[in-house]
Amino acid sequence: MPRFEQNLRIPGPTALPPSVMAAGGRQMINHRGPEFAALLERIVRRMRPFFGTTGDIVLLTAAGTGALEAAVVNVLSPGDRVLAVTVGAFGERFAKVAEVYGADVRRLAFAWGTAATPDAVRAALLEESAVRAVLLTHNETSTGVTNPVAELAATVREIAPDALILVDAISALGAVPFEMDAWGLDLVVTGSQKAWMSAPGMAFAAVAERAWAAMESARMPRFYFDLRRARESAATGQTPWTPAVAVMYQADEGLRLMEEETPAGVFARHAACAAATRAGLRALGFELLADPAHASQTVTAAWVPDDVDWKAFNGEAKRRGLVLAGGQGELKGRIFRVGHLGSVEVEEILGAIAVLEEAALRTGRAVTPGAAVAAAQRAALAELGAPVAAVAGGTPA
Ligand SMILES: Cc1ncc(COP(=O)(O)O)c(C=O)c1O
Repeated sequence: MPRFEQNLRIPGPTALPPSVMAAGGRQMINHRGPEFAALLERIVRRMRPFFGTTGDIVLLTAAGTGALEAAVVNVLSPGDRVLAVTVGAFGERFAKVAEVYGADVRRLAFAWGTAATPDAVRAALLEESAVRAVLLTHNETSTGVTNPVAELAATVREIAPDALILVDAISALGAVPFEMDAWGLDLVVTGSQKAWMSAPGMAFAAVAERAWAAMESARMPRFYFDLRRARESAATGQTPWTPAVAVMYQADEGLRLMEEETPAGVFARHAACAAATRAGLRALGFELLADPAHASQTVTAAWVPDDVDWKAFNGEAKRRGLVLAGGQGELKGRIFRVGHLGSVEVEEILGAIAVLEEAALRTGRAVTPGAAVAAAQRAALAELGAPVAAVAGGTPA
């Protein structure tokens, strides 16, 4: 029996495990009472290991973009110089938010499909004086690229030690190892609908001491997203405004499942799903967008070949319950994306590849039935360290 009605392979919102769905259907509680305080405490405690922080994590009832806005408006003042390192549509969005609030933004833009390099960040910082903040995207969902955040942050610390490092970690945090404290990051945000296996509606912002200190003098306007208010309320087991309690129940259950699986187990599962997706798509003849050295563990983007009628192809996939994401910004109509994050198992990826194989055959492409599924399965087994040599057909390509 498939676990879900459709194979929702978009990079968030992600499918909800049954127990998470049930958690979201619970009766409401008093959000100013002790039961809520315990819920809030559990979520923060269970999230800390995934952020790699012992510091504060603040909950916001908002989409991920709200958390990007919170990051900007809480620590910056109009006119502050900001270096926005962008590798795709979401890096561009982060830059725009800072611009809208009056920051003096310089973009360091990399070709879509590539990752940011420490050398280029170093050069940009040497050219600029008094950079107040550097904006980084951890995982660029529009291209399926994961930036080397640890190295980029180390470069910022070396060249511009006073610059704040603000990180959009919305689409991979929880799915891959992340060490906010060890990497010296000041403010890191994520969203409930991604690796956390919950519905959209909550965002989470981890705030380090330097960022709290910056808030004392930051002058951008803020009210709903004032993180200091959130911290004050959290001290009494509350949020300043009425939160999305149902989504919090879901995040709580999602985190319980993640804790049970262990972070290492969660990361290994994502790595296997990513490896299977990449191998399956390649075996179907799709060229992948991301530089393989920086390919995301949570989303894979592939070029739509010139000879593929995407509408017909995607129609075949949809009819079979497979839901894919299209391209964004300059890649609209030119790529498609497969999400493999949150509640995802290798079997669901194999199912997706089987459907794509079927769609390819139905639309007249020359593919060998079963070959892409086999390639995907071998890649997953290899990633998991299974004895692939014993698998008929040998080692993965
Ligand atoms: C990397 C990244 N940043 C920001 C966002 C925006 O999040 P939301 O759509 O919840 O506002 C997304 C959503 O896909 C994302 O993947």
